[in-house]
Amino acid sequence: MSLVLGIDIGTQSVKAVIYDADQKIITASAATELSLSQRSDGSAEQHPVQWLDALAAVTEQLRDNRLNSVEAVAVSGQQHGFVAIDQHNHVLAPAKLWCDTATVIEAEEIMARMGGVDRCIDIAGNPILVGYTASKILHLKQTQPDRYSLIDSILLPHDYINLVLSGERSMECGDASGTGLLDIRTRRWSQPMLDALDPDRDIAALLPTPRQGLGQIGTVTRDAAARFGLPQGIPVANGGGDNMMAAIGTGATSPGRLTMSLGTSGTVFAYSDAPVIDPRGEIAGFCSSTGGWMPLMCTMNCTVTTELLRGLFATDIDHMESAIASAPAGANGVTVVPFFGGERTPNLPDGRGSIMGLTNANFSQSNLLRAGAEGASFALRYGVDRLKELGIKASEITLTGGGSGSASWRQMIADICDVPTRVCTHVEGAAFGAALQALQLLEPDSSIEDIAHGHIRFDDAKGAHPNMDNVARYQDYYQRYQDYVSALRPLYEAQE
Ligand code: XUL
Repeated sequence: MSLVLGIDIGTQSVKAVIYDADQKIITASAATELSLSQRSDGSAEQHPVQWLDALAAVTEQLRDNRLNSVEAVAVSGQQHGFVAIDQHNHVLAPAKLWCDTATVIEAEEIMARMGGVDRCIDIAGNPILVGYTASKILHLKQTQPDRYSLIDSILLPHDYINLVLSGERSMECGDASGTGLLDIRTRRWSQPMLDALDPDRDIAALLPTPRQGLGQIGTVTRDAAARFGLPQGIPVANGGGDNMMAAIGTGATSPGRLTMSLGTSGTVFAYSDAPVIDPRGEIAGFCSSTGGWMPLMCTMNCTVTTELLRGLFATDIDHMESAIASAPAGANGVTVVPFFGGERTPNLPDGRGSIMGLTNANFSQSNLLRAGAEGASFALRYGVDRLKELGIKASEITLTGGGSGSASWRQMIADICDVPTRVCTHVEGAAFGAALQALQLLEPDSSIEDIAHGHIRFDDAKGAHPNMDNVARYQDYYQRYQDYVSALRPLYEAQE
């Protein structure tokens, strides 16, 4: 019997699944919500200790579900968060997260020192976009130099959990790409980027050597075993960023498979055998956590948008689903431009949400709810188009994340992107992907592709094929959405 544990440190919650690889079923899962500290300057922070408390609550829920029999564990985590560690492994400051837009000036400062966006892309494969870790490191230097001077190690969210589980400081190439400091072609730290971040300090000495591909970072320590109810000494896999783990958990481990995650953030990504570098810097040229590359586009406002509207109408998920289904494609002319928390793609960190096209006749709850999901989907369609332009094939999209539970949304993506959509039997691709990565440690002779393909099941009943009438309508509505974005753009750029 092979029982493995996959953990996902998300923005809204910590989740975990226990997977029985012989029976091919998730035997237990648990989640605990996290709070997010947001301020009007765009900052979005969580203290890493909060993740540990939530993980303890999650594992507590799993103690009656053979948690003490799991044989390996892996951790997935929200990308880009900055965890500053002192020499005693203590956290020096709350972690600024992927959705923190308060450090745009620092991102621009680093890129200016590099000689501009194009040179960053030339040197490292990526610009420093809003949310990337590098800008947060410079922010700490400039705002809290005393704490900055105490940094002994720079980690990302899942690396911090790995440290607590195993005592090892490590980082793997997938998540490391999201710092903006990795040369994604060579998969090593880019010295010019590190120098641009801080010419006066040896930043490389603070960063773990990026680990290549799959592997094990250590074993669960006695302290961690006692705290989380895990067996002491079981292997801890490298883990990775949540999108990299979702790639494993949805089978995007070989070319030609596109995954879209409808979570707090919206992402669309694919596996590639070679680096994919976008000269426009819109598609992130990340490494995968399986030894290859993973071009990805991220929007900062996906279920953020639908949840804000659901909160406004104080309604539940079932009612929202029927309201969305009851409005026609195009929401009778209502368009939501969903940049509520600022936006990364398009690159408008100071952007704000707008509701356009309202009339006396169309100002209804169902139109607004539908327009929210459509706005989030239009933003992602841009990424699908850009990936295709960069040579990524998209004959089908596998959906994951909370929004993929909505039948209307699954159909909407198929219609807006004119590509069939499907979902796996498990909704939480990142936690499941972590479980599969842990399983690979127990089956080292199997490739991750074989493991993914052997264990992932698709829920055929939930597949959606493009409805050609709606595909045609959505061409116009998508253009209308992009026209609004173009009209609004100067307002947000002017705020910089
Ligand atoms: C990807 C990104 C988000 C976070 C969400 O670049 O910023 O998808 O990983 O957890």
